[in-house]
Amino acid sequence: MQGYFISFEGIDGAGKSTHIDGLAKAFRDQGRVVTLTREPGGTTLAEKLRAMVLNDPMDAMTEALLVFAARRDHLRQVIEPALAKGHVVLCDRFTDATFAYQGGGRGFDTGLLAVLERMVQTVSLEDGERVRQPDVTVWFDLPAEIAAQRLAGTRVPDKFEAQPVEFFRRVTDGYRQRMLEGPARFARIDANQTREAVWLDVLAVLQTRGLLA
Ligand code: TYD
Repeated sequence: MQGYFISFEGIDGAGKSTHIDGLAKAFRDQGRVVTLTREPGGTTLAEKLRAMVLNDPMDAMTEALLVFAARRDHLRQVIEPALAKGHVVLCDRFTDATFAYQGGGRGFDTGLLAVLERMVQTVSLEDGERVRQPDVTVWFDLPAEIAAQRLAGTRVPDKFEAQPVEFFRRVTDGYRQRMLEGPARFARIDANQTREAVWLDVLAVLQTRGLLA
């Protein structure tokens, strides 16, 4: 079976988690082996880097380098081996989050992010080298004000969740820009609907692309 790499994106509070779990079940029900993972994280080393990125103050370049270091380890240890075995890899965030959060939110140079992306995501396959990208990226698009209302009082916020609503507007602009640059890969979902309606849209995206029966 052919491996699929599917990433999920959106600002904090956009509500991706339950749908990722639902999709894992849907793929398993169809006999697929699912690797469920997240960024930053997914390996012992990358989870340590995650704790630093989410909790410690640092400049935007340090943050970008740490998330890409975590990504390199994650790709080599988890994502590439899983794809080689034909698994469905469901990844809660990937590089679009770096362009959105470090690029859009924190204003870091996206040209430099693109250089890091190419370096870190170049993988050797049987037919040569290529820059690994998700086959599909599901973007849960929710207005920043509504995400803030949903998050309010639910848990102790991490460094990013504690940011003001303007930060998340810039993050959203970052995602929009990435979608313009990769329209074939991106599927934007209106996350400002009931959970059931969002779920039907998520299913439709994967069914239309032939990934899910
Ligand atoms: P998130 O995926 O929302 O996990 P949880 O549901 O446990 O809060 O948290 C990850 C945070 O890390 C989120 O605020 C976005 C941020 N992030 C970056 O800033 N850059 C990145 O490259 C990635 C992958 C995540």
